[in-house]
Amino acid sequence: MDQNHKPEEQSDLFAGFREPYKSFATDAIHVGQEPEQWKSMAVVPPISLSTTFKQFGPGKHAGYEYSRSGNPSRDCLEKAVAAVDGAKYCIAVASGLAATVTITHMLKVGDGILCMDDVYGGTNRYFQKIASQTGTEVSFADFTKPELLKAALKPNTKLVWIETPTNPTMKVVDIKACSDLVHEFNKDIVVVVDNTFMSAYFQRPLAFGADICMYSATKYMNGHSDVVMGLASTNRDDLFERLSYLQNALGCVPSPFDCFLCNRGLKTLHLRMECHFKNAMAAAKFLEADPRVEKVIFPGLPSHPQHEVVKKQCTGCPGMITFYIKGKLEHASAFLSNLKLFAIAESLGGYESLAEHPAIMTHASVPENERTALGISDTLIRLSVGLENEADIIQDLEQALAAAHPKKK
Ligand SMILES: Cc1ncc(COP(=O)(O)O)c(C=O)c1O
Repeated sequence: MDQNHKPEEQSDLFAGFREPYKSFATDAIHVGQEPEQWKSMAVVPPISLSTTFKQFGPGKHAGYEYSRSGNPSRDCLEKAVAAVDGAKYCIAVASGLAATVTITHMLKVGDGILCMDDVYGGTNRYFQKIASQTGTEVSFADFTKPELLKAALKPNTKLVWIETPTNPTMKVVDIKACSDLVHEFNKDIVVVVDNTFMSAYFQRPLAFGADICMYSATKYMNGHSDVVMGLASTNRDDLFERLSYLQNALGCVPSPFDCFLCNRGLKTLHLRMECHFKNAMAAAKFLEADPRVEKVIFPGLPSHPQHEVVKKQCTGCPGMITFYIKGKLEHASAFLSNLKLFAIAESLGGYESLAEHPAIMTHASVPENERTALGISDTLIRLSVGLENEADIIQDLEQALAAAHPKKK
């Protein structure tokens, strides 16, 4: 391993960030998991695979009728997620996109969605290619400049969609400033924050005025790359009523087994996120100091344009790093193809390190002119830094950079 590498100091890492939310780990581990709710007193919630539930008499039941409308394994997960989001309610659905679809179905024909300009490719595709075809008006603006958000609000705007940090260019949006501005314009506009990148441990959007906090729980919330899942939390009774109606009426529900796994993953979220931050900070500093790298975008570095906003609204940073390698597409391809510990793969937020090429992989569905405007170029590489040993991660980056830019003899 790299003998010169000095491990990142955990104590310096969190300096200047918000304090972690009180009792976060206790809530993640215990809320909704009380053994007393099962006749067996099982400490680990059982997986309720049954699709249907016996009734005492017609319409008289113990809280469950049919598994799409309600399931004990899903309930356990939803209660724990609501607790860690500082929310009253949560719904779990079959994927992050299913959460986006379910939330968007709250709108009517003619209603407007205003979306952050740089979002996950699938969110962009759903809004532009599907929601807009069924009568919703979709527009985009750069919310890192609140004046652009303000100018883009219209009388028919009903939903404002924030993603922060954005995927893949890591733009950070000030959730409080934007939520306040939107609600001053019209208090009925629903502000949604896609919190996939930060996870509940590092960012609590509802505490900053958002109405709904949503996740692709496929990523950090589950954290083990073995579940596709979506979550949406809220404190508003009216929104929960509508979302749980849609959860059942649209039917995008997750399987009880996936709920069990995600619920289990949530128990170690705080530990995983701290380690992701430590490893990513080490990798980001290494890349930033390397002459073969053009630019590093990591919200935890002082060089990030919204680093002060990050410290104000987050308790730390996840393992997501975006960087531009010097050269052309061939250098980016050589770097990616030569990685040994990092796997070239889509997705992020699991315990294992992944690397990908957004222009060819995750963001291929974003029209080319928009990709160019957003800076999703051929030399842009996205890393999801995992939980392996820090020195091994750095060593792998070093050898892949050397392969992409071999020394001239
Ligand atoms: C930020 C973000 N939001 C939403 C999604 C969609 O989630 P899913 O793939 O679980 O449907 C993704 C997927 O990569 C994502 O990265």
